[in-house]
Amino acid sequence: MVDADGRIAATNAPERTHPATKAPVTVVGHPLVQHKLTLLRQVERSTKGFRQILNEIGMLLAYEVTRDLPLEPITIQTPIQAMEGRQISGKKLVLAPILRAGVGFLDGMLSLVPSARVAHVGLYRDPETLEAVEYYFKAPSDLADRTVMVLDPMLATANSAVAAINLLKARGAHDLRFVCLLAAPEGIARLQAIHPDVPVWTAAIDSHLNDHGYIVPGLGDAGDRMYGTR
Ligand code: PRP
Ligand code: URA
Repeated sequence: MVDADGRIAATNAPERTHPATKAPVTVVGHPLVQHKLTLLRQVERSTKGFRQILNEIGMLLAYEVTRDLPLEPITIQTPIQAMEGRQISGKKLVLAPILRAGVGFLDGMLSLVPSARVAHVGLYRDPETLEAVEYYFKAPSDLADRTVMVLDPMLATANSAVAAINLLKARGAHDLRFVCLLAAPEGIARLQAIHPDVPVWTAAIDSHLNDHGYIVPGLGDAGDRMYGTR
């Protein structure tokens, strides 16, 4: 969290806000996530290193964002005897990365939830207006019956997150979670104002947005750093 002096507080405990009508924002303070986030932020990090670390963080965030999935009992047979185990019940998962940078989380998350379906949401941010422009959308047809995890490392103005969630809701999704790495306070406020039903998981809430809509201190342009473009 950003403290009164604008510093990012280090915490290793998940932190939740509980506004009356808004879904919570969870800051994942796990030391591994925080350590890897610091490595990612560093300007000297190579493209290869950036991709690898984002993938690792994706795996760790998958662990956190699935923490409250419901379980049901199942009777199984071990080599020794029958027993009652537990298995995940309820709705199946869809991972919905926002292109391009959201793809950075995908492989890490799929390694923990390999049977999840994937919805690709192609959006880019117009550099002048900062509006999200749609260029691709492909999702499973049964979104209404699934829990949809929207993935994007960066929540800046929230224009991309809002547009992606609008598209997914228009196709029937109503149980959504938003997973990012860095959020600006402005982006969280906007996302919660427009989609108060969507809980957010992030590794950090930074200070503010600059005049170009970049998160400060942030990590720069996530897509460009991931793919070595620009
Ligand atoms: C980045 C990032 C988010 C968006 C966040 O994508 O990956 O999708 O900006 O900013 P916002 O909250 O203000 O909408 P970008 O548009 O640069 O596309 P890219 O991933 O293809 O580089
Ligand atoms: N998109 C990025 O990739 N980085 C930012 O800081 C803001 C939007």
